Amino acid sequence: MKAIAICGSPRVKGNTESLLQVCLDRLASEGFDTDLVRLAEKRVNPCRGCGTCGKRLDRRCSDDSDDFHEIFVRMLEAEIIVVGSPVYFGSATPQMMALLDRAGYVSRKNGNLLSRKLGGPVVVARRAGQNFTYAQLLFWYMINDMIVPGSSYWNIAFGAARGEVSEDREGLETVTRFAENLGWLAGKLFADSRVGEGASQD
Ligand SMILES: Cc1cc2nc3c(=O)[nH]c(=O)nc-3n(C[C@H](O)[C@H](O)[C@H](O)COP(=O)(O)O)c2cc1C
Repeated sequence: MKAIAICGSPRVKGNTESLLQVCLDRLASEGFDTDLVRLAEKRVNPCRGCGTCGKRLDRRCSDDSDDFHEIFVRMLEAEIIVVGSPVYFGSATPQMMALLDRAGYVSRKNGNLLSRKLGGPVVVARRAGQNFTYAQLLFWYMINDMIVPGSSYWNIAFGAARGEVSEDREGLETVTRFAENLGWLAGKLFADSRVGEGASQD
C-alpha cells in the first residue's frame, strides 16, 4: 500500500516538510511505500474553471502545461494522501490550493476518483492561523468523499525558521499518532496484513 505526502511550502526542507516526514517515516515503519511531493519543485497552475475535465474520456485536466497530471496520478495510486501547508496570512499556500482545486475538480467531475482514500492535513505556523488553515484543508477532504482519522490533538505545530518545528514536541507527537491512526485504519479497511501492525492498540 502506498502513502503520499504533499508539501505545499515553497521552502524545501522547511518545517512543513519536516512534519510530513515524521508522518511518512511512521507509515514506512508500518510497511507502507511512501512518496513525498514538494510543490516547491513543481509548477501547478490554478484551476481555469473550464469544466473540460468532466467531458474528456481520459478524465484529464485540459491544462497539460505543468506538473499537475504527474502529481495527480501519484495521488490516485496512493491509499493515503496527507497534505501539509505552512500558514500564509491565515491560509494555506496558493501552491497547495492550486493543486487541491484541480485534483478535487477532476475527481468530482469523474465519479469521485478520490473516494474513500484516507488522509488529512498537517499545518505549521510561526504563531497563529493553524486552526483556520487546518479547517480549510479539512474541507477539501470532506467534500471529496475521503476518510480522515483524528489524533491526540489537531495536526498543527509551531515553528518559524527552518527546523524549528522539531522543538514542538506535542506537534510531533500529534502527527505521529495521526500516522499511527492512518496505518491502523488502512489495515482494517484494506485488509492488508502488511500494514498497520505497528500501530498502538486502541
Ligand atoms: C508570506 C508568509 C506569510 C505568513 N503568514 C503567517 C501567518 O499568518 N501566521 C503565522 O503564524 N505564520 C506565518 N508565516 C510564517 C510561516 O507559517 C512559518 O515560518 C512556517 O514555519 C513556514 O513553514 P515552512 O518552513 O514549511 O515553509 C508566514 C510566512 C510567510 C513567508
